Amino acid sequence: MKLPTVAKENAEAEAHPDIERVLIGRARLAEQVRLLGQQITRDYAARGVRELTLVAVANGALIFAADLLREISLHTRFDSIRVSSYLDGTVPKTPPQMADLLRLDLVGRHVLVVDDILDTGNTLSRLCALLQKQGPASLRTCVLLDKKARRQVDFFSDYTGFDIPDRFVVGYGLDFAERYRNLPFIGALAPDKQDPAKWG
Ligand code: IMP
Ligand code: MG
Repeated sequence: MKLPTVAKENAEAEAHPDIERVLIGRARLAEQVRLLGQQITRDYAARGVRELTLVAVANGALIFAADLLREISLHTRFDSIRVSSYLDGTVPKTPPQMADLLRLDLVGRHVLVVDDILDTGNTLSRLCALLQKQGPASLRTCVLLDKKARRQVDFFSDYTGFDIPDRFVVGYGLDFAERYRNLPFIGALAPDKQDPAKWG
């Protein structure tokens, strides 16, 4: 029996019937997260910072943050905050709500906010304004994905994993109506799967 090639094995492992196209496979994700962790470590160490406070925007950023944490070689405090505006659709329906407050204090801390994707920019700009009021020593952001074409407010992330086109994507923590967070890659959701009412 002939064994499949590695490329074919990867393609088979990543195939999912609801995904139109894999945009970023698991190997590229892992490599870019490693590079981000190294860059963050270098940048903060160069400023004499020995401890970071990482704030992940739950739930979407939790998988990214969990991987990123392990690529940062500084003392790292960790907390998460819950922000929601999407409900069961691909278009935000309400302004982002901060449903949770943080357990960790941010006063005088070097805070790095980690999110899955920068889209309109509303979530991170509001969240950063809110966190800034708590008096951190510094406040920066790190996003895995950036859909620059969709920006509605003037907001730039300090660290970005990948710029992506204006497609609704899922996987590696990102969901559509709470599905697909567990896919190990970033993929574009097939248009005919973007209506939960039609799910079997
Ligand atoms: P923003 O406030 O429009 O920048 O939206 C940011 C949030 O919207 C992200 O943290 C995601 O939770 C969600 N989001 C935006 N685009 C996508 C997408 O393509 N797939 C899944 N979630 C998305
Ligand atoms: Mg999110």
